[in-house]
Amino acid sequence: MKQEIGKKRIIIAIDGPAASGKSTTARRLARQLGYTYIDTGAMYRSVTLKALQKGVLEDVRRSPESVSALLDDITISFDGDLVFLDGRDVTAEIRDNRVSREVSFISSLKPVRERLREMQQELGRQRAVVMDGRDIGTVVFPDAELKIFLVAEPRERAKRRYAELLAKGGELPDIDLLEDEIKERDRADAEREHAPLKKHPEAVEIDTSELTIERQVEMVYNLALEIEKGSR
Ligand code: CDP
Repeated sequence: MKQEIGKKRIIIAIDGPAASGKSTTARRLARQLGYTYIDTGAMYRSVTLKALQKGVLEDVRRSPESVSALLDDITISFDGDLVFLDGRDVTAEIRDNRVSREVSFISSLKPVRERLREMQQELGRQRAVVMDGRDIGTVVFPDAELKIFLVAEPRERAKRRYAELLAKGGELPDIDLLEDEIKERDRADAEREHAPLKKHPEAVEIDTSELTIERQVEMVYNLALEIEKGSR
């Protein structure tokens, strides 16, 4: 979609807990606005996958500073919906449950956050981006013109994740277990020392438990249009 002349190019930061609908909302919104979508969770997942592939996870757990070696020559890039780690398409692999289980640990490490924050700020330099994650409105782009905080009941979020896994095929976890894992990840993300998950005071909170995807996208889209036009 073309960017209309005369409109402000803004940054839209969408934060919130796991499976609250951030990525679906962000992706559709970006398409409607003609903006670029950046999935920062995919970046943390990529670093986690790299640690698993290199077999260094236990070493990093013992001496967290050793994670820096993974970051020295890492490249993470996007091409539409595809995610590339060091030049290889890892779009499917980064959604593996074994990555989901370890990603909060890797994301809690300061060198990882610093490196990815720099990459994210560079990716958003031209503005006209929708970026989703945990700390986009609070740390990466505290000056984002529109900050959204999406929440939903844990059970509802577990059901969504379950439906996603069902659609993909393969092994299905127990839904109660899925809910426990989601709650555990929320706890780890909210309690960590560096850039914890929290709502920026200016962020608009939207509870998506009972909203359709269409409705939640529409709500954010309308807010974005008002800001682009300067009426908000
Ligand atoms: O899709 P889902 O909400 O399950 O997770 P994600 O957005 O792919 O993020 C995976 C994990 O990466 C989160 O649980 C956080 O631990 C971490 N993350 C983060 O720390 N900061 C971000 N900006 C994005 C993700």
